[in-house]
Amino acid sequence: MKRHILITGGAGFIGSHLVDRLLSEKSWQVSVVDNLNDFYSPQIKRDNIGKHLNSPEFSLYEADIRCRESLRRVFAAEKYEAIVHLAACAGVQSSLANPALYVQTNVDGTLNVLELAREFGVRQFVFGSSSSIYGINCKIPFSEEDKISKTISPYAATKAAGEMLCHTYSHLYDIRTVCLRFFTVYGARQRPDLAIHKFSRMIWQNLPVTMFGDGTTRRDYTYIDDIIEGIRAAIDYRKSVHEIFNLGESQTVELRYLIELLEKNLGIKAIVEKHGLQPGDVPVTFADISKAKQILGYNPQTKIEDGIPKFVRWFRENRGLSFVESAL
Ligand SMILES: NC(=O)c1ccc[n+]([C@@H]2O[C@H](COP(=O)([O-])OP(=O)(O)OC[C@H]3O[C@@H](n4cnc5c(N)ncnc54)[C@H](O)[C@@H]3O)[C@@H](O)[C@H]2O)c1
Repeated sequence: MKRHILITGGAGFIGSHLVDRLLSEKSWQVSVVDNLNDFYSPQIKRDNIGKHLNSPEFSLYEADIRCRESLRRVFAAEKYEAIVHLAACAGVQSSLANPALYVQTNVDGTLNVLELAREFGVRQFVFGSSSSIYGINCKIPFSEEDKISKTISPYAATKAAGEMLCHTYSHLYDIRTVCLRFFTVYGARQRPDLAIHKFSRMIWQNLPVTMFGDGTTRRDYTYIDDIIEGIRAAIDYRKSVHEIFNLGESQTVELRYLIELLEKNLGIKAIVEKHGLQPGDVPVTFADISKAKQILGYNPQTKIEDGIPKFVRWFRENRGLSFVESAL
C-alpha cells in the first residue's frame, strides 16, 4: 500500500523537486495542486512535472488554493497521509506591488488548505515558510527562538501569518504542523525571478546586472537537494505537534562574491550597474541550523562554491527555457 501525499505548488521550483524525490522512492502516491499561474511561464511549470504526467503514481489537479470549493474536490477524491504546502505567491518585490494578492494566496489560501486538512482528517502538515520573516532582525545567525515581529515586506508578513495559522490548527485540531523556514533556495529549475537565475541570464546576454546596494548584502543560499532532504525529514517528523525549523546552508555569501562566482562559472565578465537598496529587501540572512540538525537530522552538504557550478551546468543546458522569462 503506497503512502499518499498532497503537494500544493508541486509544479513549481521546490515542489517539482519534491515530486521527483518522492516518486523515486517508489513508495508514494503523489498528488499535486497547482494553478500553474503566470508569475512565470506556466509552460516551465508544466515541463517541471512533465515526465510524471502519465505515471499512475502521480496526479495533477489544476486548482487554486484561494477557492475552497475546488480544493475540496481534491481532498474528497483521495485520502492523504500528509500535505506539503508550498503553493504561494513567492518573491519579496512583487509583494510590494500587489500585497492583496499575497494575502489572498498566502494567508487565505493557507487557511483553506488547513481547514480542509481538518475536515478530511489529514494529520501531518508541512508548511513552506521563509527566512524573510526574520526581517530586520539584529541578531545573527537567525534562530527559531528569535521574535519575528520585524517583517519588512508584505510577503514576509503573509508567511509569518501562515506560521501562526499552523500553530493555531495544531493546537486546536491536533494537526501536526512543521514550518520550514527556507533560506534562498537555488539549483536546477530555480525560479527565474531569483537573483542567481536572473543574473545568469543577464550575464549570458551581456546585459547589465542590477546590483542593489554596494554588493555587501549577504544571503544564506541553500542548494535544492539540501532543502529536499529537510522537507523529506519533516514529512516523517512525529515528535511534537508543532515545530519550526530553519533550513539554510548556514554560510552567508556577499552579493559581490556571488556575482564573481557566476562570472567564473559562466566564463563571462558581468556588466554591473549599482542601484540603491530596494525597500523590502533585508540586508542579511543567516540561518542557525542547529535545531534542524539535532532534531531532523538535517545536514546540508552543498557549499555555494559547489552549488553554483551545478546550477550553471543546468542553466547552460536549458538556457532557451530561461529566456522565456527575459521580461522578468
Ligand atoms: N525559492 C526560495 O528561495 C524560497 C525561499 C523561501 C520560501 N519559499 C517558499 O517555498 C514555496 C515554493 O517556492 P518556489 O520557489 O518553488 O516557488 P514557485 O513559484 O516556483 O512555486 C510555487 C507554486 O505555487 C503555485 N501557486 C501559486 N499560487 C497558487 C494558487 N493560488 N493556487 C495553486 N497553486 C498556486 C505556482 O503556480 C507555483 O507552481 C513558496 O511557498 C515560497 O514562498 C521559497
